[in-house]
Amino acid sequence: MCGIFGYCGGKKASEILIEGLKRLEYRGYDSSGICVGNGSKFSVYKRVGKIKVLADTLPEKPFGHNGIAHTRWATHGGVTEANAHPHTDCNEKIAIVHNGIIENYQQLKDKLLVKGHKFKSETDSEVIAHLIEEVFNGDLTKAVKQVLPMLKGTYGLIAMHVDCPDVLVGARNGSPLILGIGNNEMFLASDVNAMVAYTKQVVYLNDKEIVTVTPDGFTTSDVQDNAIHKDITMVETDGESFDKQGYNHFMMKEIAEQTEAIKRGMVGRLNVDEATGHLGGLNMDNAQLLDVERIVLVAAGTSYYAGMTASYLIENLVRIPARVELASELRYKNIIVEKNTLYFVISQSGETADTLFALRELQRKGAHVLGICNAVGSTIARETDGGVYIHSGPEIAVASTKAFTSQLTALYIFTLLMARIRHLSFEQGKEFINAFNELPALIEEILSADDKIEQIADKYYKSQSFMFLGRGINYPVAMEGALKLKEISYIHAEGFGAGELKHGPIALINEQTPSFFLVPDDALRDKNISNMKEVKARGGKIIAVCTNGDDEVKEIADDVIEVPKIMPCFYPFLLVVPLQLFAYHCAVKLGRDVDQPRNLAKSVTVE
Ligand code: AGP
Ligand code: GLU
Repeated sequence: MCGIFGYCGGKKASEILIEGLKRLEYRGYDSSGICVGNGSKFSVYKRVGKIKVLADTLPEKPFGHNGIAHTRWATHGGVTEANAHPHTDCNEKIAIVHNGIIENYQQLKDKLLVKGHKFKSETDSEVIAHLIEEVFNGDLTKAVKQVLPMLKGTYGLIAMHVDCPDVLVGARNGSPLILGIGNNEMFLASDVNAMVAYTKQVVYLNDKEIVTVTPDGFTTSDVQDNAIHKDITMVETDGESFDKQGYNHFMMKEIAEQTEAIKRGMVGRLNVDEATGHLGGLNMDNAQLLDVERIVLVAAGTSYYAGMTASYLIENLVRIPARVELASELRYKNIIVEKNTLYFVISQSGETADTLFALRELQRKGAHVLGICNAVGSTIARETDGGVYIHSGPEIAVASTKAFTSQLTALYIFTLLMARIRHLSFEQGKEFINAFNELPALIEEILSADDKIEQIADKYYKSQSFMFLGRGINYPVAMEGALKLKEISYIHAEGFGAGELKHGPIALINEQTPSFFLVPDDALRDKNISNMKEVKARGGKIIAVCTNGDDEVKEIADDVIEVPKIMPCFYPFLLVVPLQLFAYHCAVKLGRDVDQPRNLAKSVTVE
């Protein structure tokens, strides 16, 4: 969510900061700002809206070689220029940028007000600048170390002081912060993407670590002043993936990339000779996997739906209980950690605060937790006891698409591995792999029918509300379809298990509320058809996603999107694609900001 970026070196800081902010843009934000050191004073620029608006207001001539920058996703105080970061102290000598929430800011602010501090914003973050002002005595690192223990909540922050012209001090607790090491220049950012254009050498900071950077070096320590040794990591991402490559939106590019992403996630992980899966990163051998009696998958949003889909597959093929938990709920429900249970946290970004805190809560209770992540080196990837990278490539659009099918890919391979240790025969394992290998070509086929999906979107995009209905393993896909539509088109949409219709949601059916039915030719097809008839009988319009050539479905539905036939447990991969495309086309037709929808952030680093 939002982002921070700091630069310290010999170049024109304002340009580098703006470039860095553009690379953080995809994370979602409502306003932005920069502060550049300029001799004995700071120059601060802030704007509501897009980075471009901020960039256009900056003066042409160079001014300063170090600075900090921020994209804000407001939590405390409205979306205004005054509330945008960086925030300064009373004398404008200290500037800070902050991601996260300072939970005890009001108490701190009250005390500072009594002492005569003047506040310029309604944010929780501004207290940090004033607290540093209170304790500063010539050494910025020391001042930050005195302030951090006073803060309750989460932060990724960077501070600078006019009296320390070449110094940036960064600290983190619950929100990401990464150091980039360049040639006589240093970078600090909440996301590695902000700096990959300048350096590939990074240091991932952990919670409670403080870093002091100057153009030619850095030191890391804790609040007690103990030095901390950090390893330097080479990152493999490069900036090119930030190019839309001819597509109008990142979302469409990422939908289209799913075939390649799935293939990448499968490479070297399907063992045809033994008809099983191979996932080295789990750090568990087959004997340990055999001891697993239960699986719990923990995640948020789209990743939660991927976990839910996998829970159906695991119970069906591995024949052990599998359930999914919302990360935001798990953290506070005093969860019972059971023995012989394997926990997974699933997160595209690897930085989602709810999921990260759920992971830590599980580990605190002694659970063994594996991760399914996309972002290499992310906090969740580093803190889990093992796991799988999905290798989807950077996902820039706020609406998650390729990460979903790539998460499924990893979870399906894991399920195959677990099932082959237990009851799945060699022949069944082989059939599973054969079906798996068909997926990329079949998804390609669905993508090539995009025109038809666009026409259907054209017919329905003015509707006020949609229902998405599915059963069994496709029930989570229905919910994912509803999530996609609501987040980017702002049309109200709900996903339900089709069997639940009669228990309440059917009251919503009328001619103005179309229903998407996921009705492939699996064991529940006939049940779905009965539910479709119930909707028709009440005047509801139906868009059905069914298997090629299903005439019975075609007869009942008003519009049909056909997907190719495959082994039934693989339908989630195929059914989700038309739902992604439908949401995309509705959003485009409604003139929405498809890649950065309102109020949303790509990486939700606050609770
Ligand atoms: C998906 O389209 C959403 N933007 C959102 O629900 C997302 O999946 C969720 O915030 C979890 O993110 P993560 O996978 O990065 O943890
Ligand atoms: N809580 C701070 C604010 O509302 C920081 C939000 C953010 O992480 O961007 O300004």
